[in-house]
Amino acid sequence: MSRKRVAVLISGRGSNMAALIEAAKAKDYPAEIVLVVSNRPEAGGLLVARAAGIATEVVDHTEFGGDRNRFEGEIQAHLEKYRVDIVCLAGFMRLLTGSFLEKWQRRILNIHPALLPDFKGLDTHRRVLEAVAKIHGATVHFVVPEMDSGPIITQGVIAVRPGDSEETLAVRVLKVEHRIYPLALKLVAEGRVQIKDNRALIDGVPVPNVTDRVPTDPT
Ligand code: GRF
Repeated sequence: MSRKRVAVLISGRGSNMAALIEAAKAKDYPAEIVLVVSNRPEAGGLLVARAAGIATEVVDHTEFGGDRNRFEGEIQAHLEKYRVDIVCLAGFMRLLTGSFLEKWQRRILNIHPALLPDFKGLDTHRRVLEAVAKIHGATVHFVVPEMDSGPIITQGVIAVRPGDSEETLAVRVLKVEHRIYPLALKLVAEGRVQIKDNRALIDGVPVPNVTDRVPTDPT
């Protein structure tokens, strides 16, 4: 089976992108990273990608005068040029809209630093601490127009420990992210993930939501 061609979209340091690049070095990994696109010219991840010999493109959103269609059209043109099969968002800080997402339906993934559907949006580690949650983690999901809401492909859980801060949680969650993103991409690239009733199935089995499965303290 030929390897799927993957583009990673970033805005910053790109540590998840680096984890995907690393995983894709294995000969039996079903995907190769053929392109990294950043909406920020100064994103550190661009240097990491170039050092790994991967093509990079910058599509700077500030140059489109707020015209999302043109911004997304430019990204789409790069994806077509590199004959991309699957798109991975990895710390990409722009919302993508309907017509772009329609083209990539079931072929565009995102990683979120929390156990969705809880803690959508930004500042997840702070909000987890404020909520005195017992567990935390990361989620890879398909991207749909509504933010952080698409079918969940895989999740990784950590325990919140007494004395944890935003920083300590960020470090442990990021480690989980680097493990689960390559795993989720592998499953999608192998064609083992289907969607039924807005829920992902892996090899025909619905992905359980860990927040349903892990009992949390009633207090
Ligand atoms: C990660 O925590 C990811 O979950 C979130 O943004 C952060 C990006 O980090 N969407 P990096 O650029 O992959 O290091």
